[in-house]
Amino acid sequence: MSLGLKKRAQTQAPPAAVVPQHVAIVMDGNGRWATRRLLPRVAGHKQGVDSLRRCVKACVDRGVAALSVFAFSSENWNRPADEVSGLMDLLVGALAREVPRLAADGVQVHFIGERSGLSARIAEGIAQAEAATRSNQRLVLNICFNYGGRWDMAQAAAKVVAQGLPLTELNLDRAMALAHVPDPDLVIRTGGEQRLSNFLLWQSAYSELFFSDKLWPEFDEAALDEALAAFARRERRFGQTSAQRADAAAPLAEPAALNPASA
Ligand code: IPE
Ligand code: IPE
Ligand code: MG
Repeated sequence: MSLGLKKRAQTQAPPAAVVPQHVAIVMDGNGRWATRRLLPRVAGHKQGVDSLRRCVKACVDRGVAALSVFAFSSENWNRPADEVSGLMDLLVGALAREVPRLAADGVQVHFIGERSGLSARIAEGIAQAEAATRSNQRLVLNICFNYGGRWDMAQAAAKVVAQGLPLTELNLDRAMALAHVPDPDLVIRTGGEQRLSNFLLWQSAYSELFFSDKLWPEFDEAALDEALAAFARRERRFGQTSAQRADAAAPLAEPAALNPASA
C-alpha cells in the first residue's frame, strides 16, 4: 500500500478522525453551470477540469491522502453524442496538459472503471498518466471513468469466482477496483442532488455523506473546507453506541470476514 494508506476493515475509524484520509466526490453540476451562462454544456465540463485541478491541490495541502472523483459514469454514454465526444476530447486534452503538473505535485493517478471498449487514444492517455505518476506518494487520485458501482461489484464477483475463491465480503473487497485505498471517509456530491448515481456503492457503506448546492465548477477551497468541517463534527459509530465510541478503549468486535488483520 502506498502513502502509508492502510486498508482498514469497513468498520474502523481513521486514526485521527479529523481530516478524512479518503475523500470521494461526485462532481455534478457542470452542465447547469454552462446552461445558466448560455454556454454549451461542454464549456461547463471544461470549467469542471479547472475546479478539479484546484480541488486536488487543496486536498494535498490539507493532508488528504486519497481523492476519488466521479468523472464519467457507465450511464453517461446515454447523453447526446456531441456531449459524449466533447467529454472524451476534453479528457485527452486534460491528461496531456495536467499530467506533468500532477507528476510534479506528487499525485499518483489511477483510472477506475471498465477499460474494454475505450478508444485507443483514451486508453493510451490513461496508461501514460498512470505510468508517469506511478511512484508518486503525496496523494492518490482515483479518476472514476466509465465507472459504476454495480459494474465494480459484478467485476469483483467475476474475479473472485475465476480465482476459485468463496464469495465472501473480504474476497469481494479485495477484488474491488478501489482495493488499493481504504473506504472513503467522506463522500461529497455537488450540484444539489442527494443521490449516489451508482458511485462507490460498496465502499460508501459507512462513509459520511455531504451534499453541496454549489455546482462543481463553483466548488472552491472554501466549499471544500465547509465539507471537511462538517465531517470533523460528525460522530461515526459503525453500528456501536455513542457511549462505546466515546470510550476510546472499546474495541470494535468485527466479523472475522471483514477484518483483513484476522484473515
Ligand atoms: C457532471 O456534471 C459531469 C458529468 C456527468 C460528466 P453534469 O454534466 O451532470 O451537470 P448537470 O448535472 O447536468 O448540471
Ligand atoms: C453522476 O452525475 C456522474 C458524474 C458526476 C460523473 P449524473 O449527472 O450523471 O447523475 P444523475 O443522472 O443526475 O443521477
Ligand atoms: Mg448531473
